[in-house]
Amino acid sequence: MSEPEIVRFEVEGVVGIITVDYPPVNALGPGVREGIIASVDKGNADPAVKVMVLIGAGRSFIAGADIRMFGKPRPVYTRVSYDVLDESRKPIVAAIHGFALGGGLEHALACNYRVAVPSAKVGLPEVLIGIIPGGGGTQRLPRLIGPKAAMEMIVSGRHVPAEEAKVMGIIDAILPGVDLRHEAIDFARNIAAKRPLPRVRDRTDHVAQAKADPGLFDAMRKSIAKKARNQQAPYHAIASVEAAVAQPFDEGIKTEWRLFSELETSDEAKALRYAFFAEREVAKIPGAPKDFKPQSVKSAAVIGAGTMGGGIAMSFADVGIPVKVLEVARDALDRGMQRVRDNYATSVKRGSLSQTEMDARLARIQPVERYEDIGDADVVIEAVFERIDIKKDVFTKLDAVMKPGALLLTNSSAIDTDIMANVTKRPGDVAGAHFFAPANVMKLFEVVKGTKTSLETIVSAMKVGRDIGKISAVAGTCDGFAANRSRAPFVTEMMLMLEEGALPEQIDKVMVAFGYPIGPFAVSDMSGLDISYDTRKRRAAADPNFRKLHVPDRLVEMGRKGQKTGAGWYRYEKGDRTPHPDEVVKSVIADVAREFGIAQRTFTDDEILRRLLYASVNEACKILEEGRAYRASDIDVMWLHGFGYPRYRGGLMFWADGIGTKEVYRQVAEWHERYGARWKPSALLKALAESGTPFREAKPKVAM
Ligand code: 3HC
Repeated sequence: MSEPEIVRFEVEGVVGIITVDYPPVNALGPGVREGIIASVDKGNADPAVKVMVLIGAGRSFIAGADIRMFGKPRPVYTRVSYDVLDESRKPIVAAIHGFALGGGLEHALACNYRVAVPSAKVGLPEVLIGIIPGGGGTQRLPRLIGPKAAMEMIVSGRHVPAEEAKVMGIIDAILPGVDLRHEAIDFARNIAAKRPLPRVRDRTDHVAQAKADPGLFDAMRKSIAKKARNQQAPYHAIASVEAAVAQPFDEGIKTEWRLFSELETSDEAKALRYAFFAEREVAKIPGAPKDFKPQSVKSAAVIGAGTMGGGIAMSFADVGIPVKVLEVARDALDRGMQRVRDNYATSVKRGSLSQTEMDARLARIQPVERYEDIGDADVVIEAVFERIDIKKDVFTKLDAVMKPGALLLTNSSAIDTDIMANVTKRPGDVAGAHFFAPANVMKLFEVVKGTKTSLETIVSAMKVGRDIGKISAVAGTCDGFAANRSRAPFVTEMMLMLEEGALPEQIDKVMVAFGYPIGPFAVSDMSGLDISYDTRKRRAAADPNFRKLHVPDRLVEMGRKGQKTGAGWYRYEKGDRTPHPDEVVKSVIADVAREFGIAQRTFTDDEILRRLLYASVNEACKILEEGRAYRASDIDVMWLHGFGYPRYRGGLMFWADGIGTKEVYRQVAEWHERYGARWKPSALLKALAESGTPFREAKPKVAM
């Protein structure tokens, strides 16, 4: 059998059909643009053809340029496919299903008409990978829907649903989508004779209107200042749309290409491309049976109606999955349900959720008091108090009532998954499902593989995470698993640097400048200093060598537990969440330093940054070395979605690769000499440095 053509041209009556068939998502890989050009030429040359349809085979129209090709040499095109569509003498209809993104939507915009099925989505998401549209998107879209709406779409990169795109003027008609090919052919026949041909490039109405509003672009720049901090692409996108208003079309296209080219190999674009592929890689489970395809869960149960349990239940209800919340004590169940109602009500008040939607979501959450009531759920997530005896008891009960094949997940943040698995007769079906607070908001879903967890269970649990809109990542079972364990040394160092003379506000400033939305001390004030206080006390009792963190311990003992007590690392005015540096904290730090004879010194911003992040890079290497994570990029995904790490820096390990394994090792070894055991370099870090291997190529020594 011969290979299927990447782009096919067929004639049905008067309609020439151009089908892009380049799985999985019809990206504009090698041969696609050439195929489109050749097909349009054929259609124009064939007297029988009066009109053409551009359509995608498989699950999508066209998902955009092939992201793998960016930063690499590209073929030089003598003719540009967008121009060829634009200049066609016969009308062309883009028939959209699935996604028309980036270069995909740009091809559609160069057609004369656009039709779509109701489930289709369109967008120009290039800024999300650090570039701007380079196929005329910043010139055609403003002409079609106006510069303001175009900028909002391009700068956010959001996927716009077909119905909304129709209202905006991007889509001319919504077709039923039962058989898009035939429906598009019908549409094409109806418009075949219409002249003049509508061409987006010729539209002048919106651009003329925008000329009367010169402040539009500065206002847009101002509105993104906070979110787009340290980034170039969103600003280049605005400048390029500005060119659509200020310049004739062909000049604007040249400006767009110049701005696109400036970005293609920028650090920001490299990091964001890396993050895009890391998020896809993280879903791959080495050794998983290829023919195992988990079903989507249709029902769920959560044990425990505390803050975490309630948030988990909301995650299911939010995506339409019915969920039962079990709590044996009636009053605790009522309190939990009230908390869920209050959370939804806050969203309604803020305008991010309608009352009808709130009611629908609440109706999906059913409070229950007996284990017998949850036995038929496809997945159960235990989210009770972090005590081994309680958790063991829950799993014994679950083992008795849950139907065969149900997924049994535990939301512990530190307790070894094996302990719970071993009280059941089905340890292969048990895994960890570590949510991050608030569970209905945070994207990271850490799936924890116990010693006996089957790979089918891991694959199924990963799918549960994806079904509820999370990014799932696998970790091996150990104290803190992969995400929190890799971050713990960062937290230790931020506290210990205080003893040596740094201040919370200085450390926060450095990390915010690096790109975090909020500094780590301000975050600690939000989540509460008392949480880690209890864990530290437990660890200190178990380990005589545990390095005590005197400053936060004293603050908690003084009643400074963070925002909830009006003071923590910072001081807060009543009813206001703005952190104010506090002399009390300074004097606690000075007392501790004096008592323990620690010399005070000044820190450079660079030293603060390296000290926090290298500590975590070293721990991440230990995690990889022990086979508790599959790959360095999985750790990056965890940091991006669990800890607010700036996406345009790729991730912890990607950033460290920018410095190099040799230099990271040198510094870690030096700090090991100076500060002792906690900085002991990981064997993997040492090996990578000695062989000159980057972190992204690090291979765990043992399988998970
Ligand atoms: N280039 C190369 N590979 C791509 C790709 C692209 N544009 N889009 C998706 N893929 C690959 C993914 O890496 C994945 O590969 P894998 O199976 O080997 O891991 C596979 O296609 C399937 O992708 P997803 O797992 O993401 O599939 P989903 O169904 O969940 O999502 C999607 C589909 C919404 C299309 C999503 O893949 C996506 O957002 N893709 C990127 C879209 C984009 O950014 N387009 C703009 C590109 S830049 C551009 O067009 C420049 C132009 O202006 C000149």
